[in-house]
Amino acid sequence: MIRVLVTDGMEKSGIEKLRANGFEVVEQFYEPEELAQKVKEFNVVVVRSATKIRKPIIDAALETKELKLVIRGGVGVDNIDVEYAKEKGIHVTNTPNASSASVAELAIGHMFCLARFLHISNVTMRQGKWNKKHYEGIELAGKTLGLVGFGRISKEVAKRAYALGMKVIYTDIIGAQAGFDEYTYMDLDGVLANSDFISLHIPFFKEQGATIGAAQIAKMKDGVYLVNCARGGVVDEAALIEALDSGKVAAAAVDVFEEEPTKNEKLYTHDKVSVTPHIGASTAEAQERIGEEIVDIIIKHFA
Ligand SMILES: NC(=O)c1ccc[n+]([C@@H]2O[C@H](COP(=O)([O-])OP(=O)(O)OC[C@H]3O[C@@H](n4cnc5c(N)ncnc54)[C@H](O)[C@@H]3O)[C@@H](O)[C@H]2O)c1
Repeated sequence: MIRVLVTDGMEKSGIEKLRANGFEVVEQFYEPEELAQKVKEFNVVVVRSATKIRKPIIDAALETKELKLVIRGGVGVDNIDVEYAKEKGIHVTNTPNASSASVAELAIGHMFCLARFLHISNVTMRQGKWNKKHYEGIELAGKTLGLVGFGRISKEVAKRAYALGMKVIYTDIIGAQAGFDEYTYMDLDGVLANSDFISLHIPFFKEQGATIGAAQIAKMKDGVYLVNCARGGVVDEAALIEALDSGKVAAAAVDVFEEEPTKNEKLYTHDKVSVTPHIGASTAEAQERIGEEIVDIIIKHFA
């Protein structure tokens, strides 16, 4: 019997479907040392972001050669040593499509928060303050949204922003993409200089460092709004705080942090910041789709 270890949780319906298809499923989180022992007994490991599948875990798995497949339920595979696993004949995959709409809706939600002070008025009203005068906002309609990265999530954001009456411009390292004539392609500097709102939808590579640091912020419009629902590290948090304090950035939304859970109190308590604890994909629909995609991957792999 094929044995599947699910370490960071998975939709119940997915677990049931796997069991109905004859797979043995164990749902259990293990700290790294224990995981290095347990991994030897499984053919598949399903993780989210909490479990790290690093070289020592892969090396341990190789002792029995049982492990064939590692699945990251979600998009970013930065918690897995993908190249090393592949080199050793272990297939690594993710579920890249399942959460695009959810992340896009969160990014748009954050834009509304920033434009209408929802994040901070929710705090001050609870403190008994009636700060009506402070909260004259702006409309999203008619503003220019600059998208950095134009992949799956970004396209979903573009669709929604366009429907709200925003002008959409975008940049991507692979260049302009066909079939999106309603949006305007520019290089990164063009997007930085011409956007009222900027939303980031690119991966983070440690060796490249932050795509948005002090130099890039300096190229933005004064009073720009910045949204990061991509990955911590894409934005230099220190540079962002400085820009918020100076007013260069009017307000920012942050779902992902350089360190998670974040200890950057200055950032997450900042009046001009709308914060969420990495919940881009945390919707019932995304979780269900992730579960379905995982089941399909496992069934196909062992068919
Ligand atoms: N907040 C969350 O919970 C959450 C959930 C899912 C995904 N994400 C993150 O969102 C990001 C985007 O995910 P996706 O599914 O749209 O990925 P994707 O691979 O479909 O799209 C990413 C796009 O960015 C482009 N790109 C890469 N580096 C770039 C750069 N430096 N400048 C410009 N373009 C660049 C790529 O060419 C690609 O088109 C990822 O970092 C992913 O980890 C976050």
